[in-house]
Amino acid sequence: MKGIVLAGGLGSRLFPLTKVTNKHLLPIYHKPMIYYPIETLVEAGMREILIVTGGKNAGDFLRLLGNGKEFGLAHLNYAYQEGEGGIAAALALAEFFADGGLVCVILGDNIIEGSIARHAANFRQQGEGARILLKEVEDPQRFGVPEIRGSQIVRIDEKPAVPASNYAVTGIYMYDAEVFDIIKTLKPSGRGELEITDVNNEYIRKGKMTYDALDGWWTDAGTFDSLLRASNLVAAKAQQGSQTAIADR
Ligand code: G1P
Repeated sequence: MKGIVLAGGLGSRLFPLTKVTNKHLLPIYHKPMIYYPIETLVEAGMREILIVTGGKNAGDFLRLLGNGKEFGLAHLNYAYQEGEGGIAAALALAEFFADGGLVCVILGDNIIEGSIARHAANFRQQGEGARILLKEVEDPQRFGVPEIRGSQIVRIDEKPAVPASNYAVTGIYMYDAEVFDIIKTLKPSGRGELEITDVNNEYIRKGKMTYDALDGWWTDAGTFDSLLRASNLVAAKAQQGSQTAIADR
């Protein structure tokens, strides 16, 4: 399975932090934000990774990440998104890269405590359709929210005023190649974007959507509060890690 990191967008909720740079280049504790989603994919065994970015700072990603050596990769792939078409429009640029196979997509501002290796293995075994990762949160109205009946997701609402559950659809999605055909049928939403939630609802309608609940903490980092939260969570994890290292000596 190949990995795709979506790192475009205007980052308008973080203005003026994003006035002269891309959101995904901002620091989360001791590393640039984009390091974390790349590490998540690499840790789960993915070696072919595409970064989709855009805007005036796209060249900075190449300078920062190069060929991915720091992540143990032999090379990195890049795609450039013109304009601000939304998550699904950014994903459409990965069709050539996916080459008919399964893909694991992660939003460039999604940071997790643990691993997605088990979920990636589940999807490889599933072999087709889609699989998404859910996390229980205190503020579901900020996210895509699933309505779950039994073991099935019956619908996802994007940022609902009255959430149908306490779960967020995290920005980690696994798809077969049909995703690119689905994206071609989408119409822009009220906010003028091609919504990833519309893609997921189409897989649900076809009866091809499964899910796992993600272990450990999960956060996005696209608002001032979540950016701070992400740094605090990563700092606590890094400090725990160094204490464990001292205890192991
Ligand atoms: C996007 C998706 C939303 C998802 C979230 C996860 O929202 O539209 O469904 O729950 O990412 O980070 P955005 O942050 O682009 O508003």
